[in-house]
Amino acid sequence: MTSEIPKAGSPAGVNMARGSTCQPSAPTEKSRSMSEYLDVGDYDRLIEMEPHVPEMYNKIVHGFLGHKSWYFTRSQYPTVRVREHGAGTGKLTHRLTDESFWFNRVEVEAVEIDGKSFGVLQERMQPFKRIRCVNADSVRCEHGAQRADAVLSALVDHHIPDSLKLDYLTGICESLSPYGIYISGSIFLREYQSMEDRVDALKEWHQYVIDYGNKNHHLFEKQEYFDAFVAMQEAAAGLGERTGKISTKEYENLLSLAGFFFSRERIGPWDLNRYGDCELENFSGIHVYRAWRADAKEKLERYPRE
Ligand SMILES: C[S@@+](CC[C@H](N)C(=O)[O-])C[C@H]1O[C@@H](n2cnc3c(N)ncnc32)[C@H](O)[C@@H]1O
Repeated sequence: MTSEIPKAGSPAGVNMARGSTCQPSAPTEKSRSMSEYLDVGDYDRLIEMEPHVPEMYNKIVHGFLGHKSWYFTRSQYPTVRVREHGAGTGKLTHRLTDESFWFNRVEVEAVEIDGKSFGVLQERMQPFKRIRCVNADSVRCEHGAQRADAVLSALVDHHIPDSLKLDYLTGICESLSPYGIYISGSIFLREYQSMEDRVDALKEWHQYVIDYGNKNHHLFEKQEYFDAFVAMQEAAAGLGERTGKISTKEYENLLSLAGFFFSRERIGPWDLNRYGDCELENFSGIHVYRAWRADAKEKLERYPRE
């Protein structure tokens, strides 16, 4: 069976509605909220132990800070509106408070669907007046007048069901202000030929993460944290055909169909010696995409890169 990534807009999802707030998810097409298959406390404690994840967060934040339209259209952006999708317990959100508040004109809307994660997020972000937390479905976010200058997400794309991915990305593209940016960091599988192969790629990835944990056992304060780390990987690998992880090629196809032009950066892994002659691009990895509205391409390219 081949994976079923839609090639054109499906009727479900973000295109169904426009407005200014996010809606609860429809009962039939569900995103995978975090606490369905992971303990939120374990996730929060252990996610930064996964290989390349801290570098991915930094790359997303710096991609946002470096987006040149903030500079050349400063007068048009008195307030930079940021929306984060799938904020979880606030790992990326928190980094925004460290790094970008020197702008003093950023407003963040952090959207999270999962009630348990949302509770942690809301408590953590409580001191930051410029961050508003919203317990809602990012796929069904209505945008209306509230366009975002930047949409950020970390490790979220694979939680969006395949059947909703195109609508999700199209909604993001349409909701961006003309020179806005979408930055997404996530796990992407190597290319695969069938659903069986996709599941193999998924298992390979999680085995790679477990191997990394084994090699870096000293990172874990207690054996029980390491055990939870392994269990977390096994749970994600155990999703099998229900995984939302796709290849970079499929994701790029969707980005183009959704109306983006984009760049991609592999964050890791780089060292594949342990995997024999495997070519880098034939191994799954964490990548960060920066994407802009295709209809802004000409103007954005006229200005020098940061
Ligand atoms: C792997 S976690 C990443 C959380 C956080 N971004 C981080 O880097 O730690 C994915 C998050 O996306 C959330 N999520 C999945 N689908 C969503 C949706 N449609 N709308 C909002 N949040 C969603 C999950 O509940 C989960 O908290």
